[in-house]
Amino acid sequence: MRTRVLTGITTTGTPHLGNYVGAIRPAVAASLRPEVDAFYFMADYHALIKSDDPARIERSRLEIAATWLAAGLDPDRVTFYRQSDIPEIPELTWFLTCVTAKGLLNRAHAYKAAVDKNAEAGEDADAGVTAGLYMYPVLMAADILAFDAHKVPVGRDQIQHIEMARDIAQRFNHIYGKGRDYFVLPEVVIEEQVATLPGLDGRKMSKSYDNTIPLFSGGKKHLRDSIMRIVTDSRLPGEPKDPDSSSLFTIFRAFATEVEATAFRQALLDGIGWGEAKQVLFERIEADVAPMRERYDELMSKTEQIESILQEGARKARAIAAPKIAALRDAIGLRSGTSVASASTAARAETKAGKLPRFASFREADGSFRFRLLSAEGEELLLSKPFADPKAAGAQQKRLKVHGATAAVLQVLPHALQLELDGEIVGSTPAYADEQARDEALARLREALDQLAAQE
Ligand code: TRP
Repeated sequence: MRTRVLTGITTTGTPHLGNYVGAIRPAVAASLRPEVDAFYFMADYHALIKSDDPARIERSRLEIAATWLAAGLDPDRVTFYRQSDIPEIPELTWFLTCVTAKGLLNRAHAYKAAVDKNAEAGEDADAGVTAGLYMYPVLMAADILAFDAHKVPVGRDQIQHIEMARDIAQRFNHIYGKGRDYFVLPEVVIEEQVATLPGLDGRKMSKSYDNTIPLFSGGKKHLRDSIMRIVTDSRLPGEPKDPDSSSLFTIFRAFATEVEATAFRQALLDGIGWGEAKQVLFERIEADVAPMRERYDELMSKTEQIESILQEGARKARAIAAPKIAALRDAIGLRSGTSVASASTAARAETKAGKLPRFASFREADGSFRFRLLSAEGEELLLSKPFADPKAAGAQQKRLKVHGATAAVLQVLPHALQLELDGEIVGSTPAYADEQARDEALARLREALDQLAAQE
């Protein structure tokens, strides 16, 4: 069994060189290891806790997605998605909220820091603190537990959140498990060998210090201009420089081979001028960044391509989260009837012997157009509502193919199931006699929809 490695990226900023070296590059490398089953996602629900600027969040989501793809993330290999495309995550958040001790959340570092700051300023303890900030660790636990992640690579500031996710999972297992565990307990991974880059002023490169070097934004020129602004000491050309106290050398090393780093170290010791050293650094980084920037610019000019990659990622993610949540609903007493059969049909989207479900269109006596969805064996699974013209009926078939079972909402009518897509009724199943027949009808319909989606 492969190790499931999951991590989220909060979508409030534009990726910089420090993000690339510290998070993106190692994550992409990890995703290429055969034993790793990587789940990487844009934590855009978390972003709402930090920013209420819609344009910034929208922009950041896009930039981050394009950056990771440009940096070599292969969406066929990993599951790459937006948190907000997975409705099972907020659903699980609530289940977890109800087993989480309030006292546990009181102890979360980010919340405590806000309270301490208020105390110092003589304000009310919770001044300016949203319930979102308070609940942050529970949402993060849901991100992780919904997919049974084994390993979660994060920065040191996030260790406590992973510990809380374990606590919350154990509590849920204890209350509802009756001897069985509903969640895998995640382990934190701190990448010790990964470099932390200094920023322009020598402190850790971070958006909050406003000292970042951009990765792609602003292009080659912005990269070069920023590198030229890195603070150095005032040694003149010809004077030996100390590589070990120089940001230039630290950054260079994060991109260079051993041999290149040794040569750069020697050049500094030999008294290369800072201006020239910066040019050497720029050229070394540019050699790595230029081909990625080209892919980035291309993706940013075709955002519909990014969108379809993320939609596919959401489909893959939900194929795992949906049956998991269905099982949890059963466990806590919220069985919904339709949850029984929804599990795992996506996993069976492979078709046997090339036989596929298909649509059959026909015209009613009153002139309207309808279609049926037939199973591979020709059994009727769904009868559409009437459409005024064949184009509309065709468009609906297309939508069913694209969205598959994941986007479809099924509602129980007295003796038939109704299929909805984005709140619009598409059609209904043939009538069934009892609950068992209903569950079977649902399972067959879902399976057929998944097969169609898998063909797209
Ligand atoms: N809180 C994380 C951060 O700020 C981002 C994140 C959200 C995350 N959900 C996650 C990381 C789940 C790992 C797993 O870095």
